Formats: sequence, structure tokens, C-alpha cells
Amino acid sequence: MEIIILPDSQKASRLCAEVIDRAIRAKPDLVLGLATGSTPVPMYRDLIRRHREEGLDFSKVRSFNLDEYLGLPPDHPASYRRFMDEQLFDHINIPKSSTRLPDGMTKDIAAHCAAYEAEIRAAGGIDIQVLGIGSDGHIGFNEPSSSLASRTRMQTLTLQTRQDNSRFFDKLEDVPFGCLTMGIGTILESRMTVLLAFGEGKSDAIAGAIEGPVTAMNPASALQLHPDTRVFLDEAAAGKLKLRSYYRESFERSPYWQSFKI
Ligand code: GLP
Repeated sequence: MEIIILPDSQKASRLCAEVIDRAIRAKPDLVLGLATGSTPVPMYRDLIRRHREEGLDFSKVRSFNLDEYLGLPPDHPASYRRFMDEQLFDHINIPKSSTRLPDGMTKDIAAHCAAYEAEIRAAGGIDIQVLGIGSDGHIGFNEPSSSLASRTRMQTLTLQTRQDNSRFFDKLEDVPFGCLTMGIGTILESRMTVLLAFGEGKSDAIAGAIEGPVTAMNPASALQLHPDTRVFLDEAAAGKLKLRSYYRESFERSPYWQSFKI
């Protein structure tokens, strides 16, 4: 894993956006895996800025989102489809038909999840998967105890996740109990994963994911098995990492990262 600790979330978000920017310019039909939550929003803003000011072209990019709430129609204010439209897709030139999310209203969950996986394979697989992390270590909506080999499927949300996400709803009771999510096995097949985490509230989950054992009890720890995972942290999220100074030194000495604007 490559651990990148920057003084604040803005700098970390901009660096992550530059990784994606370079990848799109190198491969215009890049397949992006996308995430929701507050964490990737500043990174999406920087991608929008790069589109507007620096000609970053999304016209051939295709995207697959990690997850969607079960039972929410796409136009529900808290649906992840709505979130992605508002935070990114409406502001760049990606055709909406190239953007995919699981359908939370599907009548046949198993068939829909299998078709979602088949669509990812047909697109050539995910080149870069963007990830946030839940305070319990979840990635996508793979809650603790998710199989590390899991595929796209229905998951029941933990009470902690429903409480964490209740800020997007009027009240806790409105947060769905279920979701459809790519599995950990699906995520591990992407060619690169970029995990963003900011704030002290993520520091325990991050310490477990990076320095703990690989365990289904911290689903993000499965990324230790991925050959190209880059973790973008602010100081607060990195606060409980034992090897902090080593990660800083590796980053500062890396010829690869020196070519980026930070
Ligand atoms: C949700 C999403 C996750 C996301 C997590 C963290 O549960 N399904 O993909 O990583 O929230 O959200 P936030 O970035 O708002 O802390």
C-alpha cells in the first residue's frame, strides 16, 4: 500500500484528482469506479475544475458506482444516483448513459447484481476505483464480516452506518436497512484503488485497514492484498498510524510523486 499523508484534505483531494486526470489523458475511455459520501466531494470538485479550466475530457469515460440504497428510486434526494449527478456528472461531459449505479428498485436482486458484474467485465474491468471508508472500516457498503471474496450483492447496513449516514435523511428511521454493493472481491479486481479518508473520526478504521491484520472485521484491510492501492490521508485520519514518519519519508523520496503538483 502506498500511504500519502498531506497537511489537509484539500491537498490530498487535489493530488488524487491529478492521478485520475493523468489516467484519463493517457486512456480517454478509462473505466472509473466511483464512491459517494462526503469524503470524495472535494476531489470531484477538482475534477470538475480540471474539466472546465484545463480541458479534461470525460466524453469517453465510463463509470460504475460502488453501491446504492435498496428501495430508493433514482430521483430520491438521498439516492446515490442523485448524489452522483449533483456532485459530479451534471458538471462534466460524461454521457449519462456511460454512468452506472446499482438499481435500488430492482425486482430481481440476484439477476441485477450478476448483470452489474457482467457489465463491469464487458467494459474491460475497472481501471481506478475511488473509495471512502466507513467509521467501521466498510468500503462500498461491505460491512464488517463481509467475505473478502464477496461480489455485488445485497447487504444489510449496521446501525452505526445508518446513524453515520442519517445526516443525509430527515431522520434515522428514513435510512434504508439494505443496499446493493459491489463486493470486496469485485473491488480487489480493479487495476488501481485510491482510498481517501479525512478527519479524526476515520483514524481507527484507517489504522486497522493499513496496520492491522487482513480481516473481514475491517473490510478496508482487504486492500492490503491489492497490488496498487494508494491511500490519501490528512493529518487527523493518519493520527493513529505507527509508521507515520516512514510513510512520509517514502512519499517525499518517491521520484513518481515528485512529478505531481502538490
Ligand atoms: C457510505 C458509502 C461509502 C463511504 C462511506 C463514508 O456508507 N457507502 O462508500 O465510504 O459512506 O462516508 P463519508 O465519506 O461521508 O464519511
